Amino acid sequence: MGLQLLEDQAESARALLAPEVLSYYDAGAGDEVTRVESEPAWAGFRLRPRVLRDVETVSTATTAAGVALAHPVGVAPMAFHALADRDGEVATAQGAGRSGALLVLSTRSSRSLEDVAAAASGPWWFQVYVMKDRRLTESLVRRAAAAGAGALVLTGDTPYVGLKRRVSGTRLAVPDDHFLVNLAAHAVPGQSITAQRAAAEQDPAVDLSTIRWLAEVSGLPVLVKGVLRGDDAVACLEAGASGVVVSNHGGRQLDRALPSALALAEVAGAVAGRGAVLVDGGLRSGTDVLVALALGADAVLLGRPVLWALASGGADGVAACVGAVRSHLEHVMALAGACRLDQLGPDLVVAPRAPG
Ligand SMILES: Cc1cc2nc3c(=O)[nH]c(=O)nc-3n(C[C@H](O)[C@H](O)[C@H](O)COP(=O)(O)O)c2cc1C
Repeated sequence: MGLQLLEDQAESARALLAPEVLSYYDAGAGDEVTRVESEPAWAGFRLRPRVLRDVETVSTATTAAGVALAHPVGVAPMAFHALADRDGEVATAQGAGRSGALLVLSTRSSRSLEDVAAAASGPWWFQVYVMKDRRLTESLVRRAAAAGAGALVLTGDTPYVGLKRRVSGTRLAVPDDHFLVNLAAHAVPGQSITAQRAAAEQDPAVDLSTIRWLAEVSGLPVLVKGVLRGDDAVACLEAGASGVVVSNHGGRQLDRALPSALALAEVAGAVAGRGAVLVDGGLRSGTDVLVALALGADAVLLGRPVLWALASGGADGVAACVGAVRSHLEHVMALAGACRLDQLGPDLVVAPRAPG
């Protein structure tokens, strides 16, 4: 399912990556029910195209959280890109820039955020895990703001890292210099590496008040990632969020969580234009993106396809991956009778019928 180029890149990555890296990237949590359901959930929707609408010129231009974008296909935050490519997130940023994609950089990047910022030629946002040592988080988001991040994306679905059967423990045993690349500079003199890593783990006591705190210390808009319910989206907005990312973390956190495709309409309806709505999880083609935009997303993020693209083709691979999804989006927009994104609305889609 999905675009041929993305499937080819995934196949090459499978042949190139070390088995433990492949398992870490690919794995879902628990029985992997959510990971497996994420892609087909988009294909469950049916389209109601319009005819004779002059679609000779199609534009994918949009804005998300006040940022002007050439198209709505961005890169999701993912840890440790240097396991896929020597240049890691620096190469990802180059590829994203070449293809006009918004990049969301992970707290757990394996290249420093300043190096990535220097390589970025387009908009980038910084994903935040609030760590047990709040001082670390504060320093990091101040650095992200100083380096040019346009927004913070606070991940809300990871009080603890989800257990994955295909990975021993919760995450691959990455070297300390990968895990701490953004953090070592803030270590207390004499602090052991073990203590540094412990301080950098997620703080499970994070709550909604963190949204305003992050906005204050960084001066940046804050979006909350991992929202799957309309009432939660409203709670985040009321607590100061500028938007939400509908996501189940690629099925890597709470197994049996709803596929993003089935949560999006409720969340977009609850947000009702009062903030940005992005979505990720299982998007693999322009048609998937078309459905997401029709259901109310302002933009989408691609996860694993970017890692496969990076592993198989470096920065060029990432640019090709995003470019393929974008041009497929243009194609299916035209076939659906839409030449601008503001012409995509819920009337374009028919939701899958609930079982029983
Ligand atoms: C290897 C890997 C690492 C990830 N690391 C992070 C992370 O550091 N922060 C975060 O918010 N989400 C992380 N995610 C989740 C992604 O941002 C995104 O929600 C998910 O991958 C989208 O689904 P897809 O892979 O089906 O496109 C990670 C996902 C993968 C596959």
